[in-house]
Order: sequence, then structure tokens, then C-alpha cells
Amino acid sequence: MASIIAPRGTRDILPGESYKWSYVIKTAGEVMSDFAFNEIYIPIFEHTELFARGVGETSDIVEKEMYTFIDRGGRSITLRPEATAGVMRSALENNLCAQGNFAKLWSYGPMFRYERPQKGRYRQFYQIDAECLGIAGAEADIEIINLSLELFKRLGLKNLEVVINSVGCEKCRPVYREKLVEYFNQHKDELCETCLNRLERNPLRILDCKKENCGKVAENAPDIFNSLCDECKEHFKKVCAGLERLGFKYKLNKRLVRGLDYYTKTAFEILSGDLGAQNAVCGGGRYDNLAEAAGGSHLPGVGFACGLDRVVIVMEEQGCSFGKIPEPKIFVIAKNDDARENAQVITSKLRSEKIAAVCDIAGRSFKNQIKNANSYEYICKADEAGNLELVKNSDDVHENLTLDEIVGRLK
Ligand code: HAM
Repeated sequence: MASIIAPRGTRDILPGESYKWSYVIKTAGEVMSDFAFNEIYIPIFEHTELFARGVGETSDIVEKEMYTFIDRGGRSITLRPEATAGVMRSALENNLCAQGNFAKLWSYGPMFRYERPQKGRYRQFYQIDAECLGIAGAEADIEIINLSLELFKRLGLKNLEVVINSVGCEKCRPVYREKLVEYFNQHKDELCETCLNRLERNPLRILDCKKENCGKVAENAPDIFNSLCDECKEHFKKVCAGLERLGFKYKLNKRLVRGLDYYTKTAFEILSGDLGAQNAVCGGGRYDNLAEAAGGSHLPGVGFACGLDRVVIVMEEQGCSFGKIPEPKIFVIAKNDDARENAQVITSKLRSEKIAAVCDIAGRSFKNQIKNANSYEYICKADEAGNLELVKNSDDVHENLTLDEIVGRLK
């Protein structure tokens, strides 16, 4: 029988790599707490309708990338392709923003999209997500971008580029949409098949088509800034001014529209030159109409998600530090077979003093244990009578000590 391997687009994060992931998540937790964002855990699956209505029927994600199935109760369920819709659902359901309150929430975990796998693009991937709900003003957008950049700064990422745009709101976007349809209709014969399909359903997406011909046509498309209403213009100006005040460089990209339909006003991405084709380490923006789309009352929001898989790849390529690899401080060696039980008891006592300790549990000989022990800071040789000899590997000092004395030395 052929052996079973992991499904395409999924991968195992093995012990040699998992500490890097833990480091990024731990750092994210610290940054989030410095910005007063509270952690939230939301389900990995939701009713399909949440994403269909929230992320949008015409988005690539909903059209062709969702893992959707009918459960045993006959309900249509989808593995979350992103976290924002679920966080919004939770905030509405649990009244997190009742009476004009706001909520600053973060989470991390796996997302699922049926995409064509390549470097930095997987079918199960991980995001660190932050959402600020209940604030309509530009200060929240600035805080969100500030938060993402602080995270990348603490992780040591270099050569990042912030690109930003405004995609308008329900008042001004329909006007812009009309202008785009009119323009692209005149260039139908130059557009790819996908963009021809988008023409009626989602013409804004044509603006960020990666195909060369479509790109050329899009270059001369009507400029969104000529269509933005006064409120959207003012909001965007405030966001840009805020970023400048905080000393952040950014680039305007009028063709940045993002792949999710819920965005209003601010849209942004953070790109890395060290990632190849999948160069976005982070994407986000404002979504003031998502709550209504999910069946709730009006609740503005802005947030971002950063791709954990991609962040780790960039950190590796840039030689960033992942902190110290956690490893035990002391190896307790049984001097002979009769001392094995004693070694395990000593090890257990050290651990209960919060000292990271190991002993041999695989029946290795004294010689093999010694071979293995050199990489630890300390060795403790235990005999069957309970005598203990502490050796500090770096200076080869041997001392006969009691367990209490060893604990005192190592703490
Ligand atoms: P997104 O741009 O679809 O936005 O994803 C955010 C980030 O997740 C990307 O920049 C990328 O780093 C990572 N990512 C996306 N797809 C994959 C994949 N297939 N493999 C590996 N990494 C991937 C969102 O998901 C929005 N929910 C962001 C947001 C939060 N907007 C407002 N709040």
C-alpha cells in the first residue's frame, strides 16, 4: 500500500523550524499587548454565508478558493479563508462594541484557500490578524499600520515597502465603477479572459491583474482619486499625514484594490523584495460595511493580517534572529544501570524547580549518555546511592553537591 503523504499545499512545521514560528507569535503577542490589543480565539469554520456575504461573492476567494462542505446536519460550512469576517461576526454576536464601545482584537491561526501552491503560497497557511472595530476615524487606520510596522521592526525585517490606496466608499465607488466599466469596455480586446469576466462583476479587480496586457490597459484607466467623495478624500489625507507624522515611508498605488470585496477607504499592503512572486507579507484596510453585510448593525472596522509562513521565509532570507533555541540546561546522567531510577527522580525534582532538565529514557549506556551530554550547559552525574556530581561543561569544574545546592546554583 502506498504511504499517505500530506495533502498538496499543506506542510509540516517540524521541530527544527517550529521554534521560529513560536518566536514570531510570541513577539506578535508582546507587540499586540503594547498596543492594547486583546487576544481572541474564533472558530476555524463558519457558516459559508458569512464569507459569501462578507468577503464577497465576486472575490476570487469565494468564487473558487474556499474549502466548503455540507456537514452531517446538512449545513454548508467553510474552513475560514481569512479571519476578519469571523472576528466581525463574533464582535456582533457577543456585543463587543455595544453602546459606542470599540474593540481592539488580535488572533493567529490557520487559514484555508484552494490556491495553486508555490513558494510563499499554501492551501493551509497561517495569519497573525489584528482588527480595530468601532472607530470610523483615520486614527484607527494609522494605529493599525503603525502596529504592523512595529511588529516587523521588532522581528528585524528590512527592505519593506508600504503601499497604500483608497478604494472609496458606497457613495463614491459606484461612480468610479461606472467609469471603469466604460473605459475597459473600450479595451475589451486587450483584456485577458479572467478580466473580461471581471468587467461586469468586479471591474476594480482588473486594475491589479498581473498579466502584461491588462496591466498596460490599467495604467491609463480613470484615476480613483478623481472619483473619491470629499469624506473619503479627507480620510485618506489624514491617514497619509498620520503616517508621515510617525515617520513611516509609504508609496501611493492607485491600482491597489486587494482581493477581498469588503474594503472601503484605506487599503494597504506591506511588500518584501525577498519573497519572489508572492511578495506581500501583510495586507489590510478599512471595512466599514462588513458588519451590515454580515447581518449586523453598522460597525466600522480596520485591520490587517500578516502571513506567518511568508514572514518566516523573509526572516530566514534576511538572516534575522529567532531568539535562542530553547533547550534543557542540564543533563542528568546515570553512572550505571542501578542509578537510572535515581537520575529520573533527580530530573523530575529539578523540573519542578523550573529548571529545564533531561535524563536518558532510552536505555543508553553511560558512554553514550556522556557523548550526548556535551551540548548542555551542565551535566549532573548521579549514582545509585544518591550522590550527585555537578559538571559545568564550559570550564570542566567538577563538584560534589546536594540537590538543593544544585538547584541554588542553576536558578
Ligand atoms: P489577504 O491579503 O488575503 O488579506 O491576506 C493577508 C496576508 O496573508 C497576505 O499578505 C499574505 O502574507 C498571507 N497570505 C494570503 N494568502 C496566502 C497563502 N495562500 N499562503 C500563504 N500566505 C498567504 C486578508 O486575509 C484580510 N483578512 C486582511 C485584513 C484584516 N483586512 C482587514 N483586516
